[in-house]
Amino acid sequence: MPIKNRFAEMQGEVTAWRRHLHENPELMYEVHQTAAFVQEQLKSFGVTDVTPGIGKTGVVAVIEGKTNTSGRVIGLRADMDALPIHEASGVDYASKTPGVMHACGHDGHTAILLGAAKYLAETRNFDGKAVLIFQPAEEGGAGGKAMCDDGMMERWGIQEVYGLHNMPGLPVGEFAIRPGPLMASSDEFEIIVTGKGGHAAAPHDSIDTTLVASQIVVSLHSIVSRNVDPIKRVVLTVGTFETDSTASNVIAHQARLQGTVRTLDPEYRTQAETWVRRVVENTAEAFGASAEVNWSSSYPVTINSETETGYAVEAAEAVGISVDADTPPIMPSEDFSYMLEERPGAYIFLGNGDTAMCHHPAYVFDDEAIPLGCSWFAELVERRMPAK
Ligand code: NI
Repeated sequence: MPIKNRFAEMQGEVTAWRRHLHENPELMYEVHQTAAFVQEQLKSFGVTDVTPGIGKTGVVAVIEGKTNTSGRVIGLRADMDALPIHEASGVDYASKTPGVMHACGHDGHTAILLGAAKYLAETRNFDGKAVLIFQPAEEGGAGGKAMCDDGMMERWGIQEVYGLHNMPGLPVGEFAIRPGPLMASSDEFEIIVTGKGGHAAAPHDSIDTTLVASQIVVSLHSIVSRNVDPIKRVVLTVGTFETDSTASNVIAHQARLQGTVRTLDPEYRTQAETWVRRVVENTAEAFGASAEVNWSSSYPVTINSETETGYAVEAAEAVGISVDADTPPIMPSEDFSYMLEERPGAYIFLGNGDTAMCHHPAYVFDDEAIPLGCSWFAELVERRMPAK
């Protein structure tokens, strides 16, 4: 049997929860109905220790095993928020909220963790405590950090923490993971370049901000190709370029660029900021313009600890899931990284089959993956805290 039998029986029920969440997506920290649904379900499973309002709208619940002599506490995490995308998946349970969609499968993650919770509350076949973490605002709002900042790890004594994310392109029934860096850090920058606006026919009376900003974009691309060790992974993208000129015969006075730096190497995060500032400020100066850089640090590198990655692989294999235990890292970022900065743990990819990529309006979560995700969470708890 490739999964825990109980989850095969529960698949219809968990799918119904997932589709309910899918029809009612909520953004960022505004996951009020979702968090209420989670609490309601947990209480119906007989889980009494449920705390809302952690990290604004996150929910933390505790399920104790039949015994609690091991002193072990394992955290399991799911994200609850949706994306500002207008759904075009064609499913009959599509979002009822125009412009908001569960396009990253967090509805699936939440339903899976609820499924695991129902099983764990029924069986309690372990010696210790499972702490279930339902977090808001994964999509750019650092909800995971907000929960950590509320003292979650200390308050519930969490010792290890595990999470999963569905992965389009990976067949259903397969998982993928690796020890060490799995997903990149993400830092954002804004650059304001100020030259001297003027008449397009009199460039000598101006400082052409468009030209200066263009040079800055080109020079920024020398950072990855010339400053970064070629065997390390860093990507820099300038995503927006706008000036205050709206006419073909006007030289812009000011330009604004926005971009992002992603890396799998934490030491390059601070280094990249220094390099970007140096290139921007000195390039602007070379043309007699000025520039300022506003840097905002976002999610850290998602780093799986070695030992816990081993536990994650063992648990998956124990329930018959085939695991690629050395999958290549990817450059999107993930705010489970904050939890992994505080505690050892592991993040694993759950095969979602052949669908549009996450964050695409045609993305569809595959409900066949539900019993696999539930089995993995439950098996982790039972293996890490064996029943007496
Ligand atoms: Ni996601």
